[in-house]
Amino acid sequence: MLSLKQRCIECGKDFDIRARLYVCPECGGLLEIEFEGDELRKNLKEHPLEGQINVWKYRAFMPVASDSKIVSLGEGGTPLVKCDRLANEIGLKNLYIKFEGANPTGSFKDRGMTVGVTKALEFGVKTVACASTGNTSASLAAYAARAKLKCLVLLPEGKVALGKLTQTLIFGAHVLAVRGNFDEALAAVRELCDKRGDIYLLNSINPFRPQGQKSIGFEIAEQLGWKVPDRVVVPMGNCANIWAIYKGFFEFDMAKVTKGIPKMTGIQAKGAMPIVNAIENGLDRFEPINNPETIATAIRIGNPVNGAKAIRAIRQSKGSAEWVSDKEIVASQKLIARLEGIGVEPASAASVAGLRKMIKLGQIKRDEVVVCVATGHMLKDPEEAIDVSEPPMEVPGTVESLETLK
Ligand code: F0G
Repeated sequence: MLSLKQRCIECGKDFDIRARLYVCPECGGLLEIEFEGDELRKNLKEHPLEGQINVWKYRAFMPVASDSKIVSLGEGGTPLVKCDRLANEIGLKNLYIKFEGANPTGSFKDRGMTVGVTKALEFGVKTVACASTGNTSASLAAYAARAKLKCLVLLPEGKVALGKLTQTLIFGAHVLAVRGNFDEALAAVRELCDKRGDIYLLNSINPFRPQGQKSIGFEIAEQLGWKVPDRVVVPMGNCANIWAIYKGFFEFDMAKVTKGIPKMTGIQAKGAMPIVNAIENGLDRFEPINNPETIATAIRIGNPVNGAKAIRAIRQSKGSAEWVSDKEIVASQKLIARLEGIGVEPASAASVAGLRKMIKLGQIKRDEVVVCVATGHMLKDPEEAIDVSEPPMEVPGTVESLETLK
């Protein structure tokens, strides 16, 4: 085990790795798990990067005390798909999609939950909880079931995509539909977990959960032949994932596994873009948006708890942030599906929509190597996919009527 610390990103104070914290007890800032380069290299000798790609291949970078409590569904090891037709269509030479829909519950959240639920067992709690726009809850419910933990989920009433709701229910979580939006549901469950020490919060404000999500960065580098792309494009909601991926590349660089960090590029929907506003205006803090709205319900978030981390990831990697309209999101969702055969949910399509927009604005060079992270599977939101598609044509069951196919 490494001698790790939890460090406040605002005041820099260190806290014991065994302390069950969500934010800095001194100033309320976000916490990050700090690794030292020498230690990482030592740890890599104990846990070498060998074998099949999945989250636990990168055990050396995961802050868990021992292997005995690990709760896993074989998450990670998702395809990095070279997308030549899509690249050609939008004006790039080298474009890849990291297809996170291929995870056990169909989104990248599984990478975080394998670590987060393992920590819940280490801390000895019996109940885990989260607020969610749907994917976090689907993933937490599955890992909690596997770990024999009770699971409490708060969902914004009437705003969760059908696939995600179905998963959360069938995995046996105790599900509450909150009259309010995601930000309000998260504030409520945070307060509950602060008050009740026996319930462990597994939203991404939890400093351990994003540690598993670092593996998206590790995998991209490994799948590119231990090389770092020029740019990684990520949809931003509560804003932990862009930070986690950045941290993955940062730690690979620190441990001398790969060299350099890609430009982290965060995309938000027009109706929910507090971080884009902050980056465009050169601010270190963001102004929350009160009534966020977008077809991409996964990122329908106005007050992202990890906003400060996203701003750092973008600035420190010399990246950028862009917004896209719902129309652009749907157009890109169809393009990804029809040119590449990859089905993604609207929030995931936001990454490609943002990339297209930035290419049109002349902000991205044609020869850049770009990876778009497709965060969730299309079947998460089947109603949206049907709504934006042509309905099937009704015909009689005769061979003549089948010749309508052009
Ligand atoms: N894409 C998908 C498919 C998501 O479900 C989320 C977040 C994001 C992108 C944004 O990631 O929050 O780390 O910036 N979904 C959360 C949830 C909020 O509750 O499932 P982020």
